[in-house]
Amino acid sequence: MRNIQIAIDGPAGAGKSTVAKKLADLLGFVYIDTGAMYRAITYKALRQGISLDNAEALTNTAKDTAIQFVRTKQGRQLIFCDGREVTEEIRSPDVSENVSKIAQFSSVREVLVRKQQELASNQNVVMDGRDIGTVVLPQAECKIYLTASLEERTARRYHELLLKGYTEEYAKIRENLAQRDEMDKNREAGPLKIAEDAVIIDSTDLTQEEVLQKILGLLGQRR
Ligand code: C5P
Repeated sequence: MRNIQIAIDGPAGAGKSTVAKKLADLLGFVYIDTGAMYRAITYKALRQGISLDNAEALTNTAKDTAIQFVRTKQGRQLIFCDGREVTEEIRSPDVSENVSKIAQFSSVREVLVRKQQELASNQNVVMDGRDIGTVVLPQAECKIYLTASLEERTARRYHELLLKGYTEEYAKIRENLAQRDEMDKNREAGPLKIAEDAVIIDSTDLTQEEVLQKILGLLGQRR
């Protein structure tokens, strides 16, 4: 029997990872945060001084990097890059500002898409990202496009960063989200777009619980 795949795509800060994690917990599926994979490569490239214009070096970095997701007993998802825990580092403003530059290279994407497809080949998954329903898992049983207004996404990210001890200006966060959306939507390889068979959920005026209930409702309808 084929494994079950749930794909959640959408712009930055729409609440995909929170809802995907909760959904995976409830269903007993594995949660795969594909944004964390692009971030891990960006983090490594920045640390190693690899030029963010050098597609070949970045592609080799993507090939040679071991990215692992580890679930703690407390339910936290940790990200390891070559055996080193980088969960917090990959969310830093520095990585957020540069990740979409790397994600535009088709050769980098090919490497990561393959890794993502492998991860989904032998287990039930909830996977979130930008191109999951369109490129990575086009046969997914359930596809969600989760979005929210730019103002709402900025406010959420602002509070999230504040809680982590970063004091980023609201306007700078807004600009970063808008720029990333622009680059993610307009690149040639695996752009952010709504899959034809995706259900659109606008979470601007919804709580996380309401989004989760909507998705559970959709899954119930499809079983
Ligand atoms: O999901 P998150 O905001 O952490 O993703 C960071 C960046 O990684 C995105 O802005 C996008 O440039 C890239 N990404 C991508 N394809 C995915 C997941 C993330 O291009 N499937």
